Amino acid sequence: MKLLPLCLLFSVAAWCQNWNLLQQVPRKAAARANPMEGDDRALRAGAKLFARECSACHGVNAEGSEKAPRLRSAEVSHAPAGALFWILENGSLHHGMPSFAHLPEPQRWQIVTFLRSLHQKEE
Ligand code: HEC
Repeated sequence: MKLLPLCLLFSVAAWCQNWNLLQQVPRKAAARANPMEGDDRALRAGAKLFARECSACHGVNAEGSEKAPRLRSAEVSHAPAGALFWILENGSLHHGMPSFAHLPEPQRWQIVTFLRSLHQKEE
């Protein structure tokens, strides 16, 4: 019976980890490189797309709202570009994050370029 608390602990830990979207990205998807990394024009285009597609939930400055978490964070900005791209493709449908697979791939990479610039800008 001593094992029971241990099992509970492990299942709670597994559940918590599952809840974080970034942790759910398959390793292979996260390894994809952003063809627009460091491209200024892509960054500006990404900022416009963010205002149009994402700000209603994540806030105009990516500061988060009651609908969606803050994206202006080290965790998001330092996440592998491929992981952010995967999140845009798949969303998190059960938790209210839509899929953006309907946007052309270049536009999704532009958004990723913008997301990865957010944290540095604040410093
Ligand atoms: C309808 C509201 C909604 C819209 C629109 C939306 N999101 Fe989200 N987003 C969410 C919610 C809710 C979550 C949390 C999902 C979860 O925890 O599983 C989330 C999570 C995320 C995450 C993961 C954050 C983390 O710390 O794990 C990223 C990255 C993200 N969204 C980016 C975007 C981008 C970029 C756009 C625009 C292209 C966008 N979202 C549009 C609701 C939204």
